[in-house]
Amino acid sequence: MLNLPPFKLERYFAQYEFSTKYLLCSSDCESIAINDLLKFEPGAEQGLKDLWLGYTESQGAPELRQEISRLYSSIAPDQILVHSGAEEAILLFMQAVLVPGDHVIVQWPCYQSLFEIARTIGCEVGFWEARPENGWAPNLDELKSLLHSNTKAVILNLPNNPTGYLMPEADFRALNQSLQERGILLFSDEVYRGLEYKPEEKLPAACDINPGAVSLGVLSKSYGLAGLRIGWIATHDMTVYQRMAALKDYTTICSSAPSEYLSSLALRHAGQIVERNQALILRNLGLLDEFFATHADRLEWVRPKAGPIGFPHLIGTDVEKFCHELVSAKGVLLLPGTIYDHPGNHFRLGFGRKNMPTALTLLEEYLEDQAG
Ligand SMILES: Cc1ncc(COP(=O)(O)O)c(C=O)c1O
Repeated sequence: MLNLPPFKLERYFAQYEFSTKYLLCSSDCESIAINDLLKFEPGAEQGLKDLWLGYTESQGAPELRQEISRLYSSIAPDQILVHSGAEEAILLFMQAVLVPGDHVIVQWPCYQSLFEIARTIGCEVGFWEARPENGWAPNLDELKSLLHSNTKAVILNLPNNPTGYLMPEADFRALNQSLQERGILLFSDEVYRGLEYKPEEKLPAACDINPGAVSLGVLSKSYGLAGLRIGWIATHDMTVYQRMAALKDYTTICSSAPSEYLSSLALRHAGQIVERNQALILRNLGLLDEFFATHADRLEWVRPKAGPIGFPHLIGTDVEKFCHELVSAKGVLLLPGTIYDHPGNHFRLGFGRKNMPTALTLLEEYLEDQAG
């Protein structure tokens, strides 16, 4: 195993996630119970009870890969490799393709494993920085200036965690084309895909427009089914696929059979599940628009374009201190931007949960208490 440093976000959540009443920084959408999932289809409950608990196919159960492949326009079930969450797929991708000395470019700020694993392998990591004054859009010319002759891979996350940024489609296509021409692999973390506020802004999956791209998907975020721990990669690059598949023999071998069963069931009703989460996000976003307008003296934000998270800027108080005092006083958890090593006094706000309006009221009370 690589000698990886602590995952700051996970360590922070470990302190609070199961003891704090209001998680106002979660990156996943509201979940559902197995019982609700089983109600989608008559016979589903009996099917679960009758399920054989032997090993399943290492690439993922055929029925599940069939359902996942429907999320793409050009991907066959054999081009899907199922993993235990998105996290396993990130680890295996990096281990499969990177060697010490490789140069890698990562869109930043981002989820820690997207750069930390490459760095621990011994790669040189270039950070393609997105800034709030540009609406969190990283600059395409800056990316060109970061490229080296030994750049092996570019890592993107769109819609982005933590900013909610979504690239315009023309830029995304141009970027894919340029990387493909240069023979640079693209690892495209698309775990929030499907949660665009304007459906016409949904990006194509990178694997559908670029044969040198690996798209990452998972049931945790847009579907709110993190407890299933089912993620996947989709790619036309069978060399990368085979190397990742070979590594999986040393990690999880295959997924949990009940999870695969429930995941196939969920994906057969993907539209309905995502629509419900979309509606929740849009309702909560309406409340946030009012909230940020009222508190413009203390908070600024770039309104996200997709997904259940944003990265507002706190004015006048140290963000770590603020988050700490808020959780102690009101039981409301925010995630300070320092967890992303971001120096700009931002925090991550999550609004994919049902109890978000109550959490927001408590945050508002806290801001008022402080002002008074
Ligand atoms: C951008 C991104 N990629 C990957 C993951 C990992 O997903 P999972 O927890 O389902 O493995 C996360 C989780 O927060 C994420 O935000």
